[in-house]
Amino acid sequence: MPDHIDLSTYRQQFPALNNKLYFNYGGQGVMPRVAEAAIIQSYEYLQQIGPFSGEGDAWITRECAKTRACIASELGVKAENIALTESTTFGCNIPLWGIDWQPGDHLLLSDCEHQGVVAAVAEISRRFQVEVSMCKFWGLTSDADFLATISSHLRPTTRLIVLSHVLWNTGQLLPLADIVQLCRQYPSHHPVRILVDAAQSVGVLPLNLAEIGVDFYAFTGHKWWCGPEGVGAVYIHPEAMADLHPVFIGWRGVVVTETGEIVGFKADARRFEVATSAYPIYAGWRESVNLHHEWGSPSDRYHRIRHLSQYLWQKLAQLSGIQCLLSTPPESGLISFQIDQKYLQAGATHTALVKSLESQNIMLRTIRYPDCARACVHYFTLESEIDQLVEAIKTILPSL
Ligand SMILES: Cc1ncc(COP(=O)(O)O)c(C=O)c1O
Repeated sequence: MPDHIDLSTYRQQFPALNNKLYFNYGGQGVMPRVAEAAIIQSYEYLQQIGPFSGEGDAWITRECAKTRACIASELGVKAENIALTESTTFGCNIPLWGIDWQPGDHLLLSDCEHQGVVAAVAEISRRFQVEVSMCKFWGLTSDADFLATISSHLRPTTRLIVLSHVLWNTGQLLPLADIVQLCRQYPSHHPVRILVDAAQSVGVLPLNLAEIGVDFYAFTGHKWWCGPEGVGAVYIHPEAMADLHPVFIGWRGVVVTETGEIVGFKADARRFEVATSAYPIYAGWRESVNLHHEWGSPSDRYHRIRHLSQYLWQKLAQLSGIQCLLSTPPESGLISFQIDQKYLQAGATHTALVKSLESQNIMLRTIRYPDCARACVHYFTLESEIDQLVEAIKTILPSL
């Protein structure tokens, strides 16, 4: 841990941490005061200058540009390849619907994807007669097994593979760079594009997307980055952009002449942006992202997240009555675990456990598939919070 920063002082910048033990970063992060202040200031400023005015317009354009640049630099890509969205799911829907699907095309989906993405894929399959197959990632832990499984599902008609960089239910990290290589080398009729749901990896992993070479990487600002809800983005590889069509279309994505004529879509990823958004919250997102750098580099933060998640994983694994879903130490901030059969058969449930913990101001969540509870640790989580969580589970378990 960087020794120039006292963690308890640092944590005071996050009001949500004052009165609870928070383990739900994968659901939503805790917003720092600097982000709240920047949002309020931006709203006040916009009201002062407009809000609808020439100056307001220019300010909005600058805010969007600054935000794309900030996010792009975090991901090691160019700002022109970033489209601002409202959420991870919105960002996933842009490539999902933007491919000109033909009947018989094949889409490969992992069995550990979030419901929103699964539902969109089902609708695409129905609408365009796209064949969907499911890769079984559940239970796999080795990079070689992930690659072999994907490899066995690829077909000459495969056009898209949809997976998460970090699986939201187990916390498993996927070997994304190798998966990209595998798809690039596969002799499909079309390039096999890779769409990544990055809800659980952005703000956790040090990332260089240009190096990884992924096609689409969709994420939100409100989880691990601790920004406000309502901000997200999708990275689109320049080559993948060439054959992707905008689906939601609006004034933000088109070029209009002085006389009001629409001459086409913007040349860069802004063509996928649609219309009016809550622009003043972008400043809050940038403040959150920048604050994390004050604590440490992306690698320092990831190192500490791994240290803490392994600490929690080990303590849970030693707890009688609890099984962790991963059999190897986690490489992300998510730790999912199940109550032993003997307690479940006696009527205990993960929902009751999570409710009981919440009544003690300890916040984590349940997951339906597989039925389990999930705790998340951020780099600013304290070991003492983890100790308290484990102690609370130990006390509650026999009474469930
Ligand atoms: C893997 C994954 N994808 C998508 C989502 C939905 O995120 P959003 O609300 O930003 O679309 C979540 C979490 O809620 C998630 O864990």
